[in-house]
Amino acid sequence: MKVLVIGPGGREHAIVRSLLADPNVSEVHAAPGNAGIGKLVPTYAIDGNDPDAVAALATRLGVDLVVVGPEAPLAAGVSDAVRAAGIPVFGPSKAAAQLEASKAFAKQIMAEAGVPTAMARVAGTIEEAADALDAFGTPYVVKDDGLAAGKGVVVTRNRDEALAHAQSCFDAGGTVVIEEFLDGPEVSLFVLCDGRNTVALSPAQDFKRIFDNDEGPNTGGMGAYTPLEWAPEGLVQEVIDRVAQPTVDEMARRGTPFVGVLFVGLALTSRGTRVIEFNVRFGDPETQAVLARLKTPLGALLLAAAKGELDKAEELRWSKETAVAVVVASENYPDTPRTGERIRGLKKVEELEGVHVIHAGTKLDEEGKVVSAGGRVLAVVALGTDLVEARERAYDGVELVQLEGGQFRTDIGGKAARGEIKVASTATSSLPVTKAKA
Ligand code: AMP
Ligand code: GLY
Repeated sequence: MKVLVIGPGGREHAIVRSLLADPNVSEVHAAPGNAGIGKLVPTYAIDGNDPDAVAALATRLGVDLVVVGPEAPLAAGVSDAVRAAGIPVFGPSKAAAQLEASKAFAKQIMAEAGVPTAMARVAGTIEEAADALDAFGTPYVVKDDGLAAGKGVVVTRNRDEALAHAQSCFDAGGTVVIEEFLDGPEVSLFVLCDGRNTVALSPAQDFKRIFDNDEGPNTGGMGAYTPLEWAPEGLVQEVIDRVAQPTVDEMARRGTPFVGVLFVGLALTSRGTRVIEFNVRFGDPETQAVLARLKTPLGALLLAAAKGELDKAEELRWSKETAVAVVVASENYPDTPRTGERIRGLKKVEELEGVHVIHAGTKLDEEGKVVSAGGRVLAVVALGTDLVEARERAYDGVELVQLEGGQFRTDIGGKAARGEIKVASTATSSLPVTKAKA
């Protein structure tokens, strides 16, 4: 089968790489892609957020499946246009993508489906915001209601800072969602959905803040690892039963079935498992780590989801190894990243055992050299027999990447490798699990 992948980032490079390893897949195309994707498959310089342009390209190429990577094209209705052209698409409709595009909508669905999440209030004025902050107390959590690439959330103990963030969202014409603070470690779980059925991938952990020890502003994600040795047994089943399936059922009941990845962002709090947020696409950079371990052919799986046939798909198989992805970002990311810098050393990275490079914000300059073109530039992904080995390999690779002003976190998977992540006991997992691989 022929597949077209839409998107410019690391997630899409990882998807393309996995599709090329699927014996069912004869051709992969990508738009717009990046320098890493362009080395693997033909790319097309169209606007990936333009529904008509994507549908026209998919039709012209005669593909059997379109996979939409990022949230922006989904929220713009790219899936709807491709579906209307009669081509199966892995990615939710514009209506179903509201689960990510509007935090208020997501909260409404969660309430109707009985999904455990943080208590929240929507505020449209500074007075309402102040009331909500005082109702929930510190730490304050203030979220821009619209799409903000993971950067629209402020978590702070400073009331003025919380109010200032709310005001900046109002000034931009938006509303905010103010929530109770959720404690405990975070988990990213990707659930493949075909409108009715759900299949969970292996849980991962992401690192949102720019600096080590979770300091500095939020980013799109600075690294990830999977699987989570410390996660309570039964976590995935609990999330399917209490979160993903009820959500998919509710979306179907409303006549807006959910087809694609439901990305469940979770906090394992002292009061039980809670949803922090929904996204409607694979996470970036979690996907780089998760797909590195998936042995089941990806193309067949995504096509089954697109066609409403996930119940007939083969059971997922995983490598026993642990995967770590460490992001290298541009100088001054996440503010105003400095781009256009030469990137060197990637060949040497690829020569390391168990290591590969996934490009994110990269492009070829006029001389055909790879240069940075975005905030998050690339990820070094490593597999190892355990988290300790996978981390060592990933960081050996990162050391070989030459990028002027490049920044990376040195503690991706560090706490877990040292056995320092603790999960408080929850309703379904009565044993506190603190075990981690040495
Ligand atoms: P979101 O865009 O909703 O995923 O939020 C980005 C990040 O902000 C999350 O990954 C959390 O680290 C943090 N966050 C969001 N909501 C909460 C909450 N209610 N309590 C604690 N941290 C939160
Ligand atoms: N890494 C989190 C996200 O993709 O939103």
